[in-house]
Amino acid sequence: MDKLIITGGVALDGNIRISGAKNAALPILAATLLADEPVTVGNIPHLHDITTTMELLGQMGVGLVVDEKLNIEVDTSTIEKFYAPYELVKTMRASILVLGPLLARFGRAEVSLPGGCAIGSRPVNLHIEGLTRMGAEIEVKNGFIHARAKRLKGAHLVLDQVTVTGTENLMMAATLAKGTTIIENAAREPEVVDVARCLIAMGAQIEGAGTDTLVIEGVQRLGGTHHYVLPDRIETGTYLVAGAMTGGRVKVKDTNPAMLESVLEKLEQAKVKLNVGDDWIEVDARGLRPQAVDIRTAPYPAFPTDMQAQFTALNSVAEGSGMISETVFENRFMHVQELQRMGADIKLEGNIAITKGIKRLTAAPVMATDLRASASLVLAGLVAEGGTLVDRIYHIDRGYERIEEKLEQLGAKIRRIPG
Ligand code: EPU
Repeated sequence: MDKLIITGGVALDGNIRISGAKNAALPILAATLLADEPVTVGNIPHLHDITTTMELLGQMGVGLVVDEKLNIEVDTSTIEKFYAPYELVKTMRASILVLGPLLARFGRAEVSLPGGCAIGSRPVNLHIEGLTRMGAEIEVKNGFIHARAKRLKGAHLVLDQVTVTGTENLMMAATLAKGTTIIENAAREPEVVDVARCLIAMGAQIEGAGTDTLVIEGVQRLGGTHHYVLPDRIETGTYLVAGAMTGGRVKVKDTNPAMLESVLEKLEQAKVKLNVGDDWIEVDARGLRPQAVDIRTAPYPAFPTDMQAQFTALNSVAEGSGMISETVFENRFMHVQELQRMGADIKLEGNIAITKGIKRLTAAPVMATDLRASASLVLAGLVAEGGTLVDRIYHIDRGYERIEEKLEQLGAKIRRIPG
């Protein structure tokens, strides 16, 4: 297993380009299953989860061609299996996203249940309930979701809880259903909007993307398109926190500041300087120590749970105390124990982390159990005294494109140790 070794203490300085959003690219690749013509997807990040999705589509018989610009052309005309095996689903929960499209277009799907994960129990009951309301017959047996439908029919769905992939799965399924589907309490994340944009370009009729009510008029078929995936707001936020924590200057390019309002607000409260352009953001913390901030995670447009671990790391070296409440996932504080091992003063009370900033963390060998937790440990390593060894970085490779190269470009002393 690869590891990263980071020698802390360098104030980052430089510019980097932000990659396409993982959490938009994954549902969009699943959405291509709905089209009866080839769909090309551009700005796909080079990540392990993307490789897993390609493997998932490939084992169904779907044709995939990657061109020299790394666009992926997906051709579903050769599909012969409607199946997502446990071996792939267990490594990537987002595999559940093929359920809605397979069912809507081919009338059947067998998808392994994802099971628990490091950040919480993460059930998929809302995906299953919504599809059942649309007329699917679904049985959960031997760890698999077995789903059948003649043609799905439109339904009025009110989601008990805001769910990102749940909304995407139901929205995708509804595009080919007979009649109108209304999804209330829908997720408003920019990635959901990007999936809707792609579906609309394929011929779907969707209104309300970006609001909490989606109205989808089912159509007979969807066709080909070229879709360019939106920038990754979590990668953007992570590098801005890196700049802020290290007392450096980092400019992130090819991003969209409008998607990061809640995160930028917290950076402002942390008293670092921000300059914002149309498609770039610069954080300037030279000569500064950030102030600790209070945060409460919640669905978009509120503060994203996917940025919680990074701000916990920031608070651990900030001036003053900060309180972070995690309301989306019940178990998303696995990084806290590791940060404590690096000297951080964090008290965990249920879903609240209270952190009293210290001047400097100290290096320790650490390892993480999920993607964003790993990112927070890398951030901690950047400011720690000595060499921090971050183990199990396959989590990072699932969601951050070439993290060590990008950080190196900003001056960080970081090295990958193949293992
Ligand atoms: N939930 C249910 N039942 C369901 C679905 C969700 O109870 O059927 C609950 C979950 O347990 C959780 C809450 O609803 O407590 C929200 O979960 P959601 O379904 O929105 O999460 P997700 O769709 O599984 C996506 C991202 C996550 C991100 C969350 C929240 C993708 C592929 N994944 O997950 O990204 O944290 O939304 O914004 O889009 C990451 O990138 O590191 C990551 C974990």
